[in-house]
Amino acid sequence: MKDKAKIILALDVGNLKKAKYFVHKLYPEIKIFKVGLQLFSIGGPEIVKFVQNKGAEVFLDLKFFDIPNTVANAVTAAVQLKVKMFTLHISGGEEMLKAAVKAAKEASRCLKLKKPLLIGVTVLTSKKASPQAVLELAKKGLHCGLDGVVCSAREAAFLRGKIKKNFIIVTPGIRPKDAKAGDQKRTATVAEAIQSGSNFLVIGRPILEAADPLRAAKEIIKQ
Ligand code: C5P
Repeated sequence: MKDKAKIILALDVGNLKKAKYFVHKLYPEIKIFKVGLQLFSIGGPEIVKFVQNKGAEVFLDLKFFDIPNTVANAVTAAVQLKVKMFTLHISGGEEMLKAAVKAAKEASRCLKLKKPLLIGVTVLTSKKASPQAVLELAKKGLHCGLDGVVCSAREAAFLRGKIKKNFIIVTPGIRPKDAKAGDQKRTATVAEAIQSGSNFLVIGRPILEAADPLRAAKEIIKQ
């Protein structure tokens, strides 16, 4: 599992032109692009389709957290968008999580589309958190049928040791040595994240803000 970790570029930019620029520049070095709140608010399905038409996959990071019915409907929409994976907050509660899992299965079956991976956010990496708190949330999410969780690389190995089933770990807050942490509190280097058993490394600013983003991406991939 360790050597299969994949890099996801967080397309945290304020307009479609910039988003398309980064996809053009970084595909195929980067094959999964994360569309989050900012970009989806501006670009919606257009940017999702753009990434997919290029040959890459989309991680839709809208962190759903609402009443079960609303989340289930949003999940159905995410299936229709053919995203590879999407996020929802585990703290949204069991009823919400189970409604999401059910909606994903039903929509994929009815539409004959691949079921996206449901990834539960434990505690945001911009917050301080004890590994135990992250573990409790991860267990809850997986128990409700999620495919994986988002946590920092600092907890990933701990979760792998404590949870015996197979599940996906997505880790943001990746920072090359000496890079600025920004608002992230639970950061790790690429090597630390891979060693910790993470499957997907989400990287935003260290690539987006680099003088040469392609070179920065290649250096990170090399690590
Ligand atoms: O710029 P940076 O590398 O910090 O970007 C990390 C990305 O991962 C951001 O888009 C952020 O929304 C996302 N993320 C996070 N913590 C989570 C889930 C997602 O930082 N728990």
